[in-house]
Amino acid sequence: MAFERVGVVGLGTMGAGIAEVFARAGLRVIGVEADAEALARGRGHLERSTGKAVDKGRLAPEQRDEILGRITLTTSREDLRDVDLVVEAIPEILDYKISLFKDLDRICEPGTVLATNTSSLSVTAIAAATGRPGRVVGMHFFNPAPVMKLVEVVGTVVTEPGVVADVTALAGRLGKTAVAVGDRAGFVVNRLLLPYLNHAAALMELGVAGRDDIDAAMRLGVGLPMGPFGLLDLIGLDTAYEVMGVLFDETRDRRHAPSPLLRELVTAGLLGRKSGRGFYGESGAYDGGAPHREQARSRLGTFKVVGYEDEGDGLAERLRAAGFKPSEDPDVVLCLADRPVIEHAVRLPDPARMVGVHLVGEQVAELASTALTSERAATAARDLMKIVGLTPVPCKDRAGFVVDALLFPFLNDAVRMYDAGYASIEDIDAAMRLGCGYPAGPFEMLESFGLARVRDGLRALYTEYREPAFAPASLLDQLVTADVSEFPRR
Ligand code: 3HC
Repeated sequence: MAFERVGVVGLGTMGAGIAEVFARAGLRVIGVEADAEALARGRGHLERSTGKAVDKGRLAPEQRDEILGRITLTTSREDLRDVDLVVEAIPEILDYKISLFKDLDRICEPGTVLATNTSSLSVTAIAAATGRPGRVVGMHFFNPAPVMKLVEVVGTVVTEPGVVADVTALAGRLGKTAVAVGDRAGFVVNRLLLPYLNHAAALMELGVAGRDDIDAAMRLGVGLPMGPFGLLDLIGLDTAYEVMGVLFDETRDRRHAPSPLLRELVTAGLLGRKSGRGFYGESGAYDGGAPHREQARSRLGTFKVVGYEDEGDGLAERLRAAGFKPSEDPDVVLCLADRPVIEHAVRLPDPARMVGVHLVGEQVAELASTALTSERAATAARDLMKIVGLTPVPCKDRAGFVVDALLFPFLNDAVRMYDAGYASIEDIDAAMRLGCGYPAGPFEMLESFGLARVRDGLRALYTEYREPAFAPASLLDQLVTADVSEFPRR
């Protein structure tokens, strides 16, 4: 089936982005909002987004006029009577969606495909409320819709043969890659992404590290386009909270219980970019009460590097090259480690001087303070890292520090998702690369880190936090035992 005329209901950030995507691909779009005020807001989103593209020289003014000219805005759903496809992007409240779909079912031709952009609600429940459940699918775009290249196409047990293929072909015409998935809470991306974001909020609440440090670690250390708190602000804290709630209802996994911090911020109206204020924001932000970072410079003195091998142009060499003296009675003992360092610290004459150092990628040094580390040693370690060009990420001396603690459970979840037969390795990797701009998918990351390192890191996390979901997935464990370094591809 070819789709030429489409309707988009709901012109918030996502709906307006989706309407723009269709219009850019040459389709005629009817955008529907509830009232004149909401319609004006939707028009504003469209004009700003295409206007920015013109300012950047990515779009000629006449092209922008053509794109906007393909979009008709209305407050009447009845105007959708002749479209081939409707995509719904209204708030994530099942009752609202069901009532809308009943209406669309009455208004649109029987052959029209009705799609929901729901992040997590049951597509089956929405489909079942209509007289055409076989022609109702999920079409899940990613924020910002004009930029992110993924669409998850969600079929249900009652979807008619061919409909998923037609919508997949349409996604291709829009310049997107489609991944066809079944109707499970969170589909592929949100099922993997949101627990990771929720976990970041939990680590901040536990005081393992502060907002800026966690964000910097994930951006600069792992190469993600945004840190978890910046991304939560983009997605919307209310949306994240709702998705977590739906995930928890389906899995009863306590890691999926929405972080109390998210609830508090949502209740306080700190929703992220959409309300101008969330974890970040010009009109105030929430940083978890982390101590102010720019403290007085330490009186940098002598150092000693211990721990795992540090040869060649390693940390000790870089510090020496920067003019610092190694000493047997140093001001700060930098213990290179990927595990908590308290056991090493207590063997020193003065444990207060030890700081754990975990280098992540080329740019980040996680700096673990134990319960005994002095403020002076922690500050000195931070300043030394800056001098050798590394971004310091101060954190508590806990298993996985920041990056491994956030990343490894996410990788473990991806293995479990594959092992459960929900999606292929290729689809999971593509979904995270294209939907979230990850530099590599979870299986690609697992293979580049080394399966054994991730398995061992998960065991350490499990031992520390006693969280059942941190226990390595059986498949991962088996591959490591069999000394296999790659996942079996199709
Ligand atoms: N609308 C349209 N275009 C936009 C845009 C927007 N809101 N934001 C950015 N862009 C465009 C810019 O114009 C620019 O285009 P150009 O290269 O043609 O000039 C391009 O995107 C890159 O933008 P910038 O250079 O300004 O900014 P960055 O390089 O920092 O990229 C980003 C911004 C694309 C948002 C990048 O940070 C990113 O990929 N972040 C991850 C976003 C993500 O994970 N999204 C998925 C969230 S999960 C989700 O949506 C599911 C839901 O159900 C919860």
